[in-house]
Amino acid sequence: MLCRSTDKQHAVSLGEPSETIPVLIEAREIVSLVGSAPEYAIPLLQEIQRRHRYLPQDLVEAVSRESQIPLSTLYGVATFYAQFRFKPQGTYLIRVCQGTACHVGGAALAAAVIRQELGIQEGETTGDRCFSLESVACLGCCSLAPVLMIGETIYAKLSVAKIKAVLKEYQESAAPKEASHGGS
Ligand code: FES
Repeated sequence: MLCRSTDKQHAVSLGEPSETIPVLIEAREIVSLVGSAPEYAIPLLQEIQRRHRYLPQDLVEAVSRESQIPLSTLYGVATFYAQFRFKPQGTYLIRVCQGTACHVGGAALAAAVIRQELGIQEGETTGDRCFSLESVACLGCCSLAPVLMIGETIYAKLSVAKIKAVLKEYQESAAPKEASHGGS
């Protein structure tokens, strides 16, 4: 899978501060799919995030207008729940466990290796939007410490070599494939 933004191109302004035709169309689509009553604030935000892996400001504003749910309500909900993100997220979310068992098992070193390999800190995303890095309290498999999770896959009993090998595997699968020129 190549890593790239899923954001829409915002080419045509409609007069609102940041609204464009694609954004307006998408907002209408989301509202008609999910619903427009105030109790749909969470599902609306979840649908936005499912599509973009974060909450683009212009789309949240457009959904607010389309649903007539006040923007302050949508942002109030979005900031209350940890599941919502306000910054773009990479294709692969790396969660490094910093719980007690993992901490004792060397989680700090694991996180340092990842930061060094990817050139990002916790809470950041690589420039190509391939990887985002987060720390979490416990991934629920303490006997396998130290552990990290990429997407839904757990990597256990981490070592420096294992972390580097796992990252390399993802980086290679994300890299554009070069055209074959034949020959040997
Ligand atoms: S402390 Fe890391 S999985 Fe529980």
